[in-house]
Amino acid sequence: MRNDGIVYDYNGVLSEAVGGIHGVSREEIIAFQEQTVRYHEEMMGEKKAGRLGFMDLPYREKEAREITDRAEEWRKGVDTCLVLGIGGSSLGGRALRDAIKTPLYNLQTAGKRAGFPRLFFAENIDPEGFTALLDLLDLKRTLIVVISKSGGTAETMSQFLILSDKMKKALGDNYASRIVAITDPEKGTLRDLADRERFATLDIPSNIGGRFSVFTPVGLFPAAVIGIDIRALLEGARAMANRCATAALEENPAYLNAVIHYIFDTKKGKPLSVLMPYADCLLSVADWYRQLYAESLGKRETKDGREVFCGPTPIRALGVTDQHSQLQLYMAGPFDKVVTFIRVEKTRQDVEIPRAFSYETQLDYLSGHTLKQLTGFEQRATAHALMENNRPTITLRVPEISAYTVGQILYFFELQVAFAGYLYGINPFDQPGVERGKILTYGLMGRKGYEKYVREMKS
Ligand code: PA5
Repeated sequence: MRNDGIVYDYNGVLSEAVGGIHGVSREEIIAFQEQTVRYHEEMMGEKKAGRLGFMDLPYREKEAREITDRAEEWRKGVDTCLVLGIGGSSLGGRALRDAIKTPLYNLQTAGKRAGFPRLFFAENIDPEGFTALLDLLDLKRTLIVVISKSGGTAETMSQFLILSDKMKKALGDNYASRIVAITDPEKGTLRDLADRERFATLDIPSNIGGRFSVFTPVGLFPAAVIGIDIRALLEGARAMANRCATAALEENPAYLNAVIHYIFDTKKGKPLSVLMPYADCLLSVADWYRQLYAESLGKRETKDGREVFCGPTPIRALGVTDQHSQLQLYMAGPFDKVVTFIRVEKTRQDVEIPRAFSYETQLDYLSGHTLKQLTGFEQRATAHALMENNRPTITLRVPEISAYTVGQILYFFELQVAFAGYLYGINPFDQPGVERGKILTYGLMGRKGYEKYVREMKS
């Protein structure tokens, strides 16, 4: 039995800690037990029917082995891997790179990267940002990984057209050997192109949408290219899935977190959910969480068609940095937030603070400590100060950062959000708001068949 499970500490939201008006009582939480059992059973039914594909992913070990083999094969002769994708087709991979390696991974020397390629995520289509990124590439030594579930997203496909053209010029007939397409197994323009041009492909299971796809090739392949142990990642996700297989609310941290946030949003006037990791490497996890939360729970209608306009607003912050930018607001502004800290108990490195100026006694309190200690004390002090100001907080304690613990964290949030969908009565797996924007863009760009949408905009 491993002892590196993450700890979910919700003492900071209870009425005992922050008072009756701003906190929740155990009774208020436990009142959801009956509903939890009902939704849990519904969820298990949906899972069995193949409609909750993300819940099967932690168990696909064979696929992880295959992806690791493919990554080893396809990164040969390559010094950089460039991922083209946006939203759910990018944020998971970036979160894995930054968390398990480091956000500065691409600036490290090849030696420090143990010979693995650099890994960039293009994401945005700002022409200046995109040009600056292209300037960093030697196309003859670059692997292009294009990721799109629908296979037609305008941003990703325009980047892909640009890169395909450049790759053809740089590599001639051989260009297709440096392209990997990750997309739907059957449908879409990207699938069609991959079949015709004979790109290597990896499938995104049909029953999994973008923001729930981090444990498919979408997240796993880029991670494997840079040598991340994706089997350990799945093992972590599995550990969390097994831990959360119970309908006993108080024993299931993902359901508990969903219920607590639901109470705050709908009954306590706290619709803002801040995720504040105290580790640079987890900031991209907070970006990933922000999308997962916003796109899944921000909905106009319930599943049975009632207009609700629901959804808590996720905010990402970084400890300790944002203590000097956001904290004043969290501490003294409106009582509309619940703050979740992620605290890493054992860091992979630490730095001692020396006594560089022997005459300066004002700084003596720092010398002899380490940055790890200072970070830990600041997190504790912030949590305490928030509590004194009647601001509810949750703390996720992560024993250390590894593929295994990151797998736990990501699955924890996925399950929380899926379960929250049941509490709100909405479908957390669609994104009609995003689709509308995509269609209007097609119309504005002159795509055939979409002219009527431009007329609608003008009228
Ligand atoms: O989570 C989602 O479904 C979205 O964020 C998509 O990932 C995003 O819109 C990109 O779509 P696609 O993968 O089809 O290119």
